[in-house]
Amino acid sequence: MVNRGRARVRRTQVGIIGAGPAGLFLAHLLHRQGIESVIVENRNRAEIEGTIRAGVLEQWTVDLMNEMGLGARMMREAHFHSGITLRFNGKSHHIDMEGLTGGKRVTVYAQHEVIRDLVAARLEDGGEIVFNVGETSLHDLDTDRPKIRYRRDRDGEVEEIHCDFIAGCDGFHGPSRPAIPEAARTEYQKVYPFGWLGILTEAPPSYPELIYANHERGFALLSTRSPEIQRLYIQCDPKDDIANWSDDRIWSELHARLATKDGWSLTEGPIFQKGIIAMRSFVCDPMQHGRLFIAGDAAHIVPPTGAKGLNLAVADVVVLSRGLVDYYRSGRMERLEQYSATALRRIWKAERFSWYMTTMLHRNEAETPFEQRIHLADLDYVVHSRAAATALAENYVGLPID
Ligand code: FAD
Ligand code: PHB
Repeated sequence: MVNRGRARVRRTQVGIIGAGPAGLFLAHLLHRQGIESVIVENRNRAEIEGTIRAGVLEQWTVDLMNEMGLGARMMREAHFHSGITLRFNGKSHHIDMEGLTGGKRVTVYAQHEVIRDLVAARLEDGGEIVFNVGETSLHDLDTDRPKIRYRRDRDGEVEEIHCDFIAGCDGFHGPSRPAIPEAARTEYQKVYPFGWLGILTEAPPSYPELIYANHERGFALLSTRSPEIQRLYIQCDPKDDIANWSDDRIWSELHARLATKDGWSLTEGPIFQKGIIAMRSFVCDPMQHGRLFIAGDAAHIVPPTGAKGLNLAVADVVVLSRGLVDYYRSGRMERLEQYSATALRRIWKAERFSWYMTTMLHRNEAETPFEQRIHLADLDYVVHSRAAATALAENYVGLPID
């Protein structure tokens, strides 16, 4: 490390901003190909390992974890389901993903467990993650020596990472996307008039697979985390205050929305975590500016109904790593230059699927009764047509990356 003016300067090949799924998978993919990287992350390790978010992994994400030698704990602790249940008009309909997709399963393994596995392995490999940085900024993106500047320990010394490329993996609110000049990017967005209230409860599983329920009181989702802990969501007003939701009120909504006509019942337990998230669809095009490449939530957002966000973040960095490997092997930039176009083709399909699942399953008071009946017809079609169920299944378990 050398001093450059007031900043301590260090060098790496790929500077990565953000230790979420995108940044961590990228660091591992590059390391396997002998490419150096450093990750800077503005939260501390305990925070990133404790944030409750996604739950479902696509089949190829599971395969990738295993290929990278990172899947041992996941294979022991994850829940593998053959499909999902769509519930409407008080009836359950199993979608047999495994049968419809030639053996691909639904894997429930919490995002923070993936993060824990990836952080531990990265540090064991001698990789560097600079936690708890402040004031991250990006510089000289139009040159072949782009730079990431930050303060160590939030308010400590200023450091600069000089690199060949920057991977902006810093989520929806990070500084990477805004570093692409406004005139050079187009943003596409849809904000939904509803949010999800999510809970974690100490209770045994009520059902052997995920239930996505369409109900006149609004959407509900039953998921799991472990034999002792369950994850459930209900559609709510995105601006609502969680203080308005007592545990009794949450359980009574869940019972109403998940009720069936065949006597099935939901098992309650103490709620130990609850929160509300808003829902949007968002895409930034292009996902590159000079030597900056953005990936994951930094570039796009999906509503969680399709269980796609984490998986999309990983798919982006698989595409990006292939371009970087090509560059370091042959000096050719062509594949890197195609990163944005290649990634966006798959991203738009995941955007479409997430929007489709969201509109079909939620109750939108702004819609006419006609539109609401169309969603029920859509559900009825999906559960009774093998062709429609196959289309849903192949999107849910994950489309191919190329
Ligand atoms: P992030 O996970 O947001 O990581 C970005 C990282 O960058 C963070 O650690 C952040 O601290 C860091 N950072 C930000 N700013 C800076 C800065 N200035 N300097 C340095 N570092 C910075 N997806 C699925 O695939 N399946 C699901 O079942 C699913 N369910 C979900 C349920 C909920 C309730 C929510 C909220 C999301 C869900 N998602 C799901 C979406 C998924 O969690 C995200 O899409 C995923 O986290 C995106 O990963 P990422 O690496 O792009 O971004
Ligand atoms: C979760 O378990 O958190 C989960 C499952 C399915 C989704 C979204 C979230 O579609």
